[in-house]
Amino acid sequence: MISEPAKKLLIAQVANELSAHQTYMGISLYFTRESLNGWAKFFHEQAVEEAGHGSKIIAFLIDNGVEFGLPQVGAAPTTYKTAREAIEVAQASERRVTAQFEALANAAREAGDNRTFQFLGWFIEEQVEEERTMAALLDLVDSGMNLFQAEDHLERVAGE
Ligand SMILES: [Fe+2]
Ligand SMILES: [Fe+2]
Repeated sequence: MISEPAKKLLIAQVANELSAHQTYMGISLYFTRESLNGWAKFFHEQAVEEAGHGSKIIAFLIDNGVEFGLPQVGAAPTTYKTAREAIEVAQASERRVTAQFEALANAAREAGDNRTFQFLGWFIEEQVEEERTMAALLDLVDSGMNLFQAEDHLERVAGE
């Protein structure tokens, strides 16, 4: 059995992950507009990962017999002033998600909900990488390298 507080937060987290998916789709489209196709591809892959996170939580809810509806997902822009601004939005989104998982883990622990607490471990580890990736992308942009040339360094700098 999943504890009631964790159940509520897990269902909310499906919406949060799908909103992150939408945010990254928007950032990918921004880079497409700029003809920065390598950056666009990178953020499209991030978007797919976020949808995967949503699916992972959905599978856990179903395995545990939880009833829920799929959430409404927030709107996301497809234009930004600069690449840096787009990446800052991604970084803020990752930091928010980290805080959401911390709150979830606290709720699960307080409820003695070990199965949820254990399940969350993967996400908490994943967030360390996600935050590191965004910090690395900001370093790449701040290096002053031309954004088209920077595409050749993206995967390595992001550690993927
Ligand atoms: Fe995620
Ligand atoms: Fe993420």
